[in-house]
Amino acid sequence: MSSLVIAIDGGAASGKSTIARAVAARYELEYIDSGSFYRFLTYRFLELRVPMEESAVLAALPAIRFEFRLGKHRRKGHILTRELRSPLVESQVSFVAAIPAIREKVNEALRQLVEGRRAVVEGRDIGTVVFPTSPLKLFLVADLKVRNRRRVHQRRGLGLRAGEEEVQENLRLRDRIDSTRSVAPLEPALDALIVDTSQLSLDETLSQIFALVEERLGSPQLTPCPLP
Ligand code: DC
Repeated sequence: MSSLVIAIDGGAASGKSTIARAVAARYELEYIDSGSFYRFLTYRFLELRVPMEESAVLAALPAIRFEFRLGKHRRKGHILTRELRSPLVESQVSFVAAIPAIREKVNEALRQLVEGRRAVVEGRDIGTVVFPTSPLKLFLVADLKVRNRRRVHQRRGLGLRAGEEEVQENLRLRDRIDSTRSVAPLEPALDALIVDTSQLSLDETLSQIFALVEERLGSPQLTPCPLP
């Protein structure tokens, strides 16, 4: 069965999630946040008290299963949301995501999930590595200050601690690790469309992106429906 994937990549807090969810809702596509798979594995390593060293992580990996249903990660039936965004997970996830075997496990899970479906998948390497044949690859960028403001707002909305300096330091550090790792670094695919959202409101960003979707994919493959 054929699949359709719209790939949305970009740095931490570049607006990927908000935009990917809106595109998925408008065109009735599934929404998949690939970063949550790296967060889930990091959470499980921490829960199992696995030392954050490559050999220990690799030894623990085969025993870990994704419990992903209806767009949510679960653990013994309990839906994980805040747990995947704890400061501890946040501080370790880039290390975990830089390990090639971890990336293979996540990529395999993503490809299985998308098989025969139409989906918007967001991440860092969706257009370059996971779904390189995607007919529409968007790469989002925004100034660090703007991204910092968004992430502080998002964390406070989830009832999580969010000091501005701490958040900015974390964004800067994660971007550095994600962009400089040897496997699947954060970078736009050669055929990605780069969208800078620094100066745009959410509405402006979305209308630009909906126009790109329809220009590239037309409506036959996608059935637009009104925004919720
Ligand atoms: O998008 P996010 O902040 O939830 O991502 C969490 C971490 O996972 C981030 O540090 C980078 C990594 N990641 C990745 O390496 N590749 C992806 N496709 C998605 C996320």
